[in-house]
Order: sequence, then C-alpha cells, then structure tokens
Amino acid sequence: MPATTQRIFVGPSAEVPEGGRLVVDVAGMTVGIFRFQGRLYAYQNRCAHQGGPVCQGKIVPRVTEVIDENGASRGFTFDETRLHIVCPWHGYEYDIQTGTHPGKPTAKLLRVAVEENPSGIYVSV
Ligand code: FES
Repeated sequence: MPATTQRIFVGPSAEVPEGGRLVVDVAGMTVGIFRFQGRLYAYQNRCAHQGGPVCQGKIVPRVTEVIDENGASRGFTFDETRLHIVCPWHGYEYDIQTGTHPGKPTAKLLRVAVEENPSGIYVSV
C-alpha cells in the first residue's frame, strides 16, 4: 500500500527569516526549515553520522582556506556565499542548499519538500 503524503502548514513566512531556521514536529518527525538567499530548504532533523539533532546546531558560513599566489596558506576566512549547519553532537557540517557534508559527499541529510505561498510555509511529509 503506497504511503500518502501530507501537506502541512508549519507557520507564517516570518517564522523563517533570512539566515535563520524553524524546527517543527510534523507527522511524527522533526523537520528543520532554513532560509538562505531567499529560498527555503528543509531536512529531517537527523544527522547522517549518528542521528544527532543536526537542524538545531549552529548556522555558520562555510570556512575556506586562503591560499596566496605561492600556494602558501594564509589562514581561513568565511565564504558568505555558502551557509552550513553544524551538528551539535560531533560537528558534522552540511551545506544548507544541498544537505551534503562538503568533505564527505556520502553524508547527506534527508530532504523534505517545502513550499511557500502568501499564506505561509508548508512541508510535505
Ligand atoms: S551525530 Fe551529528 S556529528 Fe555525530
């Protein structure tokens, strides 16, 4: 018997500000909804490492190494064009736009369908 998908209202658009998140319990699961560069992304709140509550971790820009013209490292800087969520249990990081760990592509978050219209934000689970 095929599972049925439920479309569930989770809140008004203002609940997920730019660079922010909303974590909600819907249909027996916890979902994190993020906004970056105006778009919404949603994932199950379950880290690919050991199941930690990844969506409740810190949100930080990607850290990148600065390499000079001679190939030498000049330290690290934030890349404001990429936003990461950091799992609070052991520090796995995931790109909010892709749900993938940047250094370990096999580690991925489970994406949840999310949409927004003038009445607010909905997830389909
Ligand atoms: S459970 Fe998320 S980093 Fe280990």
